[in-house]
Amino acid sequence: MDFSLSEEHQMIQQAARDFAQNELLPGVVERDDEQRFPAEQIKKLGALGFLGMMVDPKYNGSGMDTMSYVIAMEELSKVDASASVVVSVNNSLVCYGLETYGSEEQKQKYLTRLASGEAIGAFCLSEPEAGSDATSQKTTAIDKGDHYVINGTKNWITNGNSAEIYLVIAQTDREKGHKGINALIVEKGMPGFEIGPKENKLGIRGSDTHSLNFNDVKVPKENRIGADGFGFKFAMKTLAGGRIGIAAQALGIAAGAYELALKYSKERKAFGTEISNHQAIAFKLADMHTQIAAARHMVYKAAWDKDNGLNYDLSGAMAKLYASQVAMETAVEAVQIHGGNGFVKDYHVERLMRDAKITQIYEGTSEIQKIVISRSILKD
Ligand code: CAA
Repeated sequence: MDFSLSEEHQMIQQAARDFAQNELLPGVVERDDEQRFPAEQIKKLGALGFLGMMVDPKYNGSGMDTMSYVIAMEELSKVDASASVVVSVNNSLVCYGLETYGSEEQKQKYLTRLASGEAIGAFCLSEPEAGSDATSQKTTAIDKGDHYVINGTKNWITNGNSAEIYLVIAQTDREKGHKGINALIVEKGMPGFEIGPKENKLGIRGSDTHSLNFNDVKVPKENRIGADGFGFKFAMKTLAGGRIGIAAQALGIAAGAYELALKYSKERKAFGTEISNHQAIAFKLADMHTQIAAARHMVYKAAWDKDNGLNYDLSGAMAKLYASQVAMETAVEAVQIHGGNGFVKDYHVERLMRDAKITQIYEGTSEIQKIVISRSILKD
């Protein structure tokens, strides 16, 4: 077993680290404050191939593996989780979903634009009354022969306004339960498709989260992904990979908070010495370092499972559950180590603490991960 990163993975890590320091760090506090989407930075990430990392180059992707993706996600998330969530949703939910389950025409028409970063995508599953309980879709997509008509509301949609291509999960036949759900590709600007108000959030405030309204939106049948009734499985399969991306985001937030706390503890003096010389601080750093290393192993294992064609439902859910918990705990400790400065925006750790919380909520709450994990270990 080889625990070292390949030369290629090290290069990706360095490229993502440089990008985070040079392009994301400047203005990250202001973007968070003003809830401003990092549009310019996302364009540059697209040009560098970070928005379609795992997509085949024939569809304008970078043709990399999942390991490369989680390594990049960690580095970007150390500095700016509002930008990295865009990378995560576009890569793991939208591009992966289309490349794996879309038709050749859909890949040519949509995936090529998404993988190059020319357009960004959104994944629209959650509803006012269907967050964790994803089979209870109220949004309908009624079959009208050569097209579907969508009606309903989606909530908390990442990239809600900045996306151009939306994968929308909706109920076609209520009698059939989850087997009556479809996934449809909706384009911004289709008549009846309206973008609702932006959410005023605790964290990842630079990201663009909106509700979406569908009022008799006519979508051609060729925009359905997979066979009739495949929509719920499409969502579950896609989210299983998405959870690896969010686990890597959580890992990055934890590692970013830890690195800031470590640096601060070696500079800040109290009681006549640097605070890192006090065991009260050194032991906190030891715990943080250990938990982050454990989380990183779990994230890499889930990515490795995916790259090796193994089932990653369990390893991905475990990685997300654990890494998000580590993100939350580590960020709180990083604020504590910074003392009063930790409460001030310029020191970044308060933002990382606010950003950490969402990793325990989106793409399935921690409780949802425990459902997935317990079902998996109890099924035999
Ligand atoms: N792969 C393939 N099929 C799967 C699957 C998977 N990972 N998980 C479930 N399924 C299938 C089941 O096999 C079942 O099919 P059959 O009846 O043919 O056997 C079907 O889907 C229904 O499964 P369940 O009976 O297990 O469904 P459930 O109602 O008990 O729910 C759940 C399961 C895990 C709780 C699911 O509802 C879930 O994951 N909920 C959370 C949803 C979520 O993560 N939302 C996040 C929104 S997206 C987001 O946050 C993106 C963003 O903006 C950042």
